[in-house]
Parts: sequence; structure tokens; C-alpha cells
Amino acid sequence: MNRPLFVALDGPKGVGKTSLLEAITEVLRADNKKVIRLCERKSDPFRGETMHLVNRLVRHPDRDLELEVCRRLADSRSWISRHVLTKQPTDSIILIDRWYPSDAAFRRLVPFKEILQLNLDRNVQVPDLHVGVVTAAEISWARAGARRRGLSSTVLRGLEEHGACTQAFEQAVAEQGWFLCRNEGALEEATRRVVGEINRVMSRLRVPCVSSP
Ligand SMILES: Nc1ncnc2c1ncn2[C@@H]1O[C@H](COP(=O)(O)OP(=O)(O)O)[C@@H](O)[C@H]1O
Ligand SMILES: [Mg+2]
Repeated sequence: MNRPLFVALDGPKGVGKTSLLEAITEVLRADNKKVIRLCERKSDPFRGETMHLVNRLVRHPDRDLELEVCRRLADSRSWISRHVLTKQPTDSIILIDRWYPSDAAFRRLVPFKEILQLNLDRNVQVPDLHVGVVTAAEISWARAGARRRGLSSTVLRGLEEHGACTQAFEQAVAEQGWFLCRNEGALEEATRRVVGEINRVMSRLRVPCVSSP
């Protein structure tokens, strides 16, 4: 394979995506693998405008507006696919914090199948491994509330809505056949499971398991 391995971590807020991404990076790097960490939000040049629409959508849920948000996010991912993903070393593993599967958690009115098609139509890079990170809604809600920046979310207004996000996301994980990672126990244990799956996918795609140090 003459391109990087592309791994996306998605899931509702507070499930531990960012923590897992950091822990996975550490384990893979200790094994001499070249890891590039990316974050969809920070790589998106059009984020400001899109978040403006997301805020409006939260106040006034509307299918057309939600579709517009989905289109813009897909356009941004297409931009990231062309301008960021192609610039990474071919022997690296790219780990990205959120990608299009996250829309399955947060968009309420547009069916995920339509969202997926919008992304595919724009040649958004399909991950070699989609990791769907989940916990019981009460756990991720409590974790998100306990961390320093708290529940400063524009898109979630309560545990009930968070539960709906969790349920919709788990359904998409099952339907799409993504790799499900429950992160309800120790972070190290979830990390081991994801690293194991990354290694399996790499050997399936015949990527050399060790890159030069
Ligand atoms: N397995 C775990 N057990 C206990 N706490 C965890 C675990 N994984 C993550 N956390 C904690 O939960 C909070 C939310 O994790 P974070 O990685 O920020 O979630 P996300 O990026 O999915 O929103 C953080 O305070 C983090 O330290
Ligand atoms: Mg995070």
C-alpha cells in the first residue's frame, strides 16, 4: 500500500475519543510506527461559517438547514482529503479525531445514509478503519461534565438529547459494520483493543508493520 493507513475515531461527546487517540498514538509510537494525529475540527478551514449555521440549527431545527450543515461539513472533509491527507508520509498511520461517522450521532433530521452519500459524492476519503467509540449515555455525559471545559457544547442540551445521540450512533455503527469500541472500563484496555484492530487491518492491507525509526 503506497499511502498512509487512515483511521477515524468517532462517537458522541465525552466517550473518550481524544483520550483514546492519545493513548493509541503512544502505544503505536513505542512500536516504532509513524503516527500522524489530526483533528477534523482543527483542520477545517471553513469551520467558523459552518458552526454559525450549527448554532442556528440548534435554536431552530430545520431539515434544509441541517442538510446545508451536512453539505458544508462534507465539503470541508473533501478539502481535508485533498489538501491534508495527501500531504502525509505514505508509511504513516493517520489517526483523526472525528470524521463523517460523527454526523450519525449529531444530525437528527437527515438520515445517515444521505449524509454518507454526500461525503462519497465529494470524494471524501473513506477510512481504512472506522472506530466507533461508545459508552452508556450516563457515563459519557458524566465524563463530559467532569472535564475542565465542562459541557460547553453548542449541539447538546441535555442528557436526554445525549442519549438520543448515543442510540443513533450505535445503530449506525451496527448498520455500517464499523469497529465498535466500548470505553466503559480502563482506557488501557480499550486502547489495546483498538491497537489490535489497527494491526489486523494493516496486515490485511499488507502494510509493513514496522517503519524505520
Ligand atoms: N476509560 C476511561 N475511564 C475513565 N475516564 C475516561 C476514560 N476515557 C476517557 N475518560 C475521561 O473522560 C473525559 C472525556 O474524555 P475525552 O477523551 O475528552 O472524550 P471525547 O474526546 O470523546 O469528547 C476526560 O476527562 C477523560 O479523561
Ligand atoms: Mg475530544
